[in-house]
Amino acid sequence: MSRVKSFLALAVMLLPGVLLFAAASFAGSGTGAGAGGVRAGSANAPGDVVRGRKIARQHCARCHVVGQFNRMGGISSTPSFYLLVREFKDWRVRFETFYARRPHPAFLSIAGTQRLRKNLPANAHPIVLQRKAIADVIAYVETLRK
Ligand code: HEC
Repeated sequence: MSRVKSFLALAVMLLPGVLLFAAASFAGSGTGAGAGGVRAGSANAPGDVVRGRKIARQHCARCHVVGQFNRMGGISSTPSFYLLVREFKDWRVRFETFYARRPHPAFLSIAGTQRLRKNLPANAHPIVLQRKAIADVIAYVETLRK
């Protein structure tokens, strides 16, 4: 009887150690190439402010006020980039996914992710951006927050 008890006591004492060991080896395997590799190619990669400004001027300024240079430009019903980055807590998510948010899918796509509609209206001005452009634009609009 007492033998059983001491065996149980020993098992209980050892258990945390075994669990810790298991947890440590699991965590160790998780920090391998897999976890780091996924992030490298995503929109979270640091963007380039200069490229982002250029992309915004070229492709977004037609509708949005995107900076001082077109402060009086844009289309009045379209939110300015200043407004978006200063007033919306989730501005980053909005910019990360803008291409999927209306009205953008009607005239803009990201290379390799979506396809533009085949029946674009005659006056549409289709835009195809590289995935990297998203991070660049985000790096640029972040400078408008100050
Ligand atoms: C043809 C006009 C047009 C162009 C070009 C355009 N946008 Fe927009 N964008 C809009 C309009 C209109 C809205 C507001 C949509 C709404 O509130 O329903 C908007 C909203 C947004 C929003 C906020 C989305 C949301 O759901 O809150 C972001 C971010 C955005 N645009 C980014 C961009 C970027 C970056 C570019 C250039 C690569 C761009 N837009 C080009 C018209 C345009």
